[in-house]
Amino acid sequence: MIIVGSDHAGYALKEEVKKYLESMKYEYIDVGTYSLDSVDYPDIAKKLSMKVLEDPANKGILLCGTGIGVSMTANRFKGIRAALCVYPYMATMARKHNNANVLCLGGRLVSPALANEIVEVFLNEKFEGGRHIKRTEKMDTLEP
Ligand code: RB5
Repeated sequence: MIIVGSDHAGYALKEEVKKYLESMKYEYIDVGTYSLDSVDYPDIAKKLSMKVLEDPANKGILLCGTGIGVSMTANRFKGIRAALCVYPYMATMARKHNNANVLCLGGRLVSPALANEIVEVFLNEKFEGGRHIKRTEKMDTLEP
């Protein structure tokens, strides 16, 4: 399942991404926010991350104004590999090498057309595995 979520600053782009997902017949769950009223991005990033972690097959699409705050927050959750992407190539590599399971987008940075392109790549590229497995696994072993 695809989980989508945003704060108020990502709300408009989230609605565009949802339209795109619907047009491509992807099913998704929207964990909010559901209006332009101001909310705190860590709350949404937490909600989405917890939902993504329920099933290894899940993927998240998470938005705030820049994508920075939600990516910082989501990456605090063990098992979440959130990638902030502003080019389709970043999404390609985030999937192939980093096995990203959450895509972060900046609602104030990318156009709907570019966001849709990035989303499409993120949803379709496969993790290459191989030498990248031990590297992604190492992320989950890090303790301060
Ligand atoms: C909200 O104004 C903004 O700070 C937030 O959406 C995000 O860009 C934070 O990283």
